[in-house]
Amino acid sequence: MAEAIELTLIHEVVQGRYGAIALNHGSCCGPEEGCGSSSNALVLYGEESIAGLPVDVTGLSLGCGDPVTIASLKPGEHVLDLGSGGGIDCFLAARQVGVEGHVIGVDMTPAMLAQARANIENDGVANIEFRQGQIEALPVADNSVDVVMSNCVINLSPDKPAVFREAFRVLRPGGRLAVSDIVTEGGFSPELRADLSCWAECVTGAIDVDDYMELMRQAGFVEIVVADKRSAAEIVPVQPGMPQLYSARITAVKPFLCPA
Ligand SMILES: C[S@@+](CC[C@H](N)C(=O)[O-])C[C@H]1O[C@@H](n2cnc3c(N)ncnc32)[C@H](O)[C@@H]1O
Repeated sequence: MAEAIELTLIHEVVQGRYGAIALNHGSCCGPEEGCGSSSNALVLYGEESIAGLPVDVTGLSLGCGDPVTIASLKPGEHVLDLGSGGGIDCFLAARQVGVEGHVIGVDMTPAMLAQARANIENDGVANIEFRQGQIEALPVADNSVDVVMSNCVINLSPDKPAVFREAFRVLRPGGRLAVSDIVTEGGFSPELRADLSCWAECVTGAIDVDDYMELMRQAGFVEIVVADKRSAAEIVPVQPGMPQLYSARITAVKPFLCPA
């Protein structure tokens, strides 16, 4: 029961923060020109990739990496983005999968979804839809997508085992997971962990990279690879006593043959 209250509370704090960011086009974790600005999109994806995207999409880039590139998308694939925010990764993925493909973004924050849906209308794209929901209980059918991607979101979840179980459930056998996320080397003290405003800034909800990979393994994923891992000191506010924080790109596969 206490755990359920804590899960609800974390969701509320996170939702409050990202609702305000969607309404104000503010910054999520760093200075104004950090994440949450078009310059964040430029740094993460490069000028060529984001060329032609509406400024309302690039201006609400709150990620910590580029999961689309590591997903190696192919035309016709069906893609799901966990915690899609303003939708930048969905828009980039939609270009790569083309009209035969389809992209679903799931986010729990109504103001963020409203902005993302407005972006679809403004951009006139036909192969993206945004659904309201929690990534711990996805509003998506079993075995229905080729790729699950996510950018700087799973660290915010109070129930990471459920997120990986859900990602596994909705992927078709052989489907891929491509994640960019904040991870640590070492853990936070219980005191720092309890700081929910810091949690919502993508800091104290982050877990040790080995534990992260173990949760993926427990959910059934194989071929788990940390594609790269670099210091996150420039994008998240590090305080004394914190473990090393990294922005990592992690890929994995749902095997064709799952244990019964
Ligand atoms: C740091 S932003 C990243 C947004 C987007 N992925 C990007 O790269 O710009 C985190 C997003 O995840 C959403 N989010 C956080 N926790 C969530 C959860 N448990 N279920 C669904 N959405 C969640 C927030 O509403 C917010 O839009």
